[in-house]
Amino acid sequence: MAEPFYYGAAYYPELWDSETIRQDIEEMKALGINCVRIGEFAWHRMEPQPGKIDLRFFRNIIQLLKSNNIDTVLCTPTPTPPRWLTYQHPETAFVNQDSVAYEHGARQHICTNHPLFQMHAFQIVEAMAKELGNLPGVIAWQLDNEFKCHVKECYCPVCKGLWHQWLRVKYNTIEALNEAWGTEIWSQYYSSFEEVPQPSATPFLHNPSLVLNYRRFSMEKINEFAHRQTRIIRQYSSAPVTHNTGMSFGLDNEALFKPLDFVSFDSYAPAHSFLTLQLQYDRWRALKGGKRFWLMETSPSHSGNVRSAPSPHPQGYLRCEAVAAAACGARGFNYWLWRQQRTGCEIPHGSVLYSWGGRNVGYNNAKEVGEIFRRLEPVLSSTEVEQAQVGLLYSDQARTFFEGEPMADASYQGEIRRLYDVLVDMGIHRDVISEGAELSRYKLVIIPFLPAVEDSFLQKLYRFAEQGGTVVIGPMAGYRTPEHTVHTNHALGRLEAFCGVRVAHFYRADDTDGMMKGYGVECRPLHWAAPCEPLAESEELASYQTTLHPQASAAVRHKAGQGYVYTLAAMPDCEEGGRFLREFLGDAAKQAGVNLRFCTKLSVLSVPRVDEKGNRYLVLVNIDGKGDTVSLDGNWTDAFTGEPAPKKILLPPYQYAVLRHK
Ligand code: GAL
Repeated sequence: MAEPFYYGAAYYPELWDSETIRQDIEEMKALGINCVRIGEFAWHRMEPQPGKIDLRFFRNIIQLLKSNNIDTVLCTPTPTPPRWLTYQHPETAFVNQDSVAYEHGARQHICTNHPLFQMHAFQIVEAMAKELGNLPGVIAWQLDNEFKCHVKECYCPVCKGLWHQWLRVKYNTIEALNEAWGTEIWSQYYSSFEEVPQPSATPFLHNPSLVLNYRRFSMEKINEFAHRQTRIIRQYSSAPVTHNTGMSFGLDNEALFKPLDFVSFDSYAPAHSFLTLQLQYDRWRALKGGKRFWLMETSPSHSGNVRSAPSPHPQGYLRCEAVAAAACGARGFNYWLWRQQRTGCEIPHGSVLYSWGGRNVGYNNAKEVGEIFRRLEPVLSSTEVEQAQVGLLYSDQARTFFEGEPMADASYQGEIRRLYDVLVDMGIHRDVISEGAELSRYKLVIIPFLPAVEDSFLQKLYRFAEQGGTVVIGPMAGYRTPEHTVHTNHALGRLEAFCGVRVAHFYRADDTDGMMKGYGVECRPLHWAAPCEPLAESEELASYQTTLHPQASAAVRHKAGQGYVYTLAAMPDCEEGGRFLREFLGDAAKQAGVNLRFCTKLSVLSVPRVDEKGNRYLVLVNIDGKGDTVSLDGNWTDAFTGEPAPKKILLPPYQYAVLRHK
């Protein structure tokens, strides 16, 4: 039997009495909810005293839900350890960069590397897996909740010891570490691994090599914690395992999800930045090279906590969010949360029902979304998202790098968004990929804002180009080593040979007189620029002019094997630069033979899907809430009625259409 589409909500039955739970279940059924997520903060209810684990309440809930045709995503409760644990063992507290130990309360206030915490955490996970993991109705596990969403690196003494072990494994000798980080600078030289500090408070900046490695250490450790939980669960339960991640958490998502079964994420993007969410649909779908993901948390109306409470989404926006998710490969779409919390810091948060049982302002939208999913399901379950031909890199390693050496007033995510928006605007169907992506699936890969290019990744790009792929490198790629130091052979190290360029200068260009000229456009460079000279057989596509140095190139094309490498020396500005980017990326896409292009409008999202026989479907969604018309090449019919689609398809605000190619 095909796996159903899951429409659900986060639910906290431990907060309510049995009559309220009964009413909730009735309302869920009326709304078409077929799954809830439970348990992620309920450790105290499961183990009120050390070792006294009692899971009967949750067993009964899972069974009650199942008898009402509602399945369960079961979460491990490790983000909120019970008070007895932190009270008896204050040494398990998370310690921040200023050496302040966090107090019990909120969540993530404990060090997930502490052996004592781990012992208790693995014990409760094992008990849950044993007692609940094979109950009918348990369709998936969620590990913890949003790892590293509130905290990043911990600075406690346990982490210090683990850090030293980690360094020993990585560098083998202290000399190798000293050499890699250049520790003769500012008398940082270390005689043993034990002398290497954690990058806690100092009068000025730490060596970025130290900081970057500490971040990597932290990201590896949280993954070890996650994977240990996964292994325990798998001993007893065959339900698939996921985690609800997010874009900005201190995580290496590619490594995190490798042994997990599917990707889930949370997003509360407001309507006006829908493309932030859309980028995530294209990223999380591609992360495991698959075609599917879950949106584990989103609000039916608005987010909120006692410090900030945004207004509800505009009427109809939820429809756009939901249709786009399903079209892009979501197989689960879940709200946070079902019933507004009566207590705690998130009481102002939007929900499906209010605490008093009334229907929240987003209720009608949620009801409509349930109906839409039912309508879409025949098309969704018989088709898959078509494989994209273009992959745009979004790298957690790069994001981490920019935390150590930021781009003045721009963020990594914001700059990737600008490039992403250009692809959407050109109607190019795309994946947002990680370094581990299987490049042979693509015709064109775009590698921007990657300060350090690992040798293994460069080799992969070489192979891809040799076999006919087209690569765009830059802006801001390759100017640091993976140890966060500067190359001593060339400005961009070995990347220059791959790009067929020589870079003489690398500097911050925002306030200079630099101009990028090409494709009939003149624009200014933003952030850091690497104006270059084409080497023999490379071709200049745009020039870089300034009084600071002789004229150089702003864009270059280089033949590499059967393919091409395009180099972009700097990020074009936000005005004319948009046109420059369109032309430049359009040129590379054309060269690569990219032909999966549909609506060339920023107001309408177009997602191609294909069925087993290769028939193409197109889901169109108005994303700006203003409505628009769309003209498409070729003959299309309405996928539901079979009627020919009009030449000009009208999409009212946040409305959608599903077409089938004839
Ligand atoms: C998420 C979190 C939820 C809830 C929600 C509120 O980050 O996983 O537990 O706090 O935000 O928007």
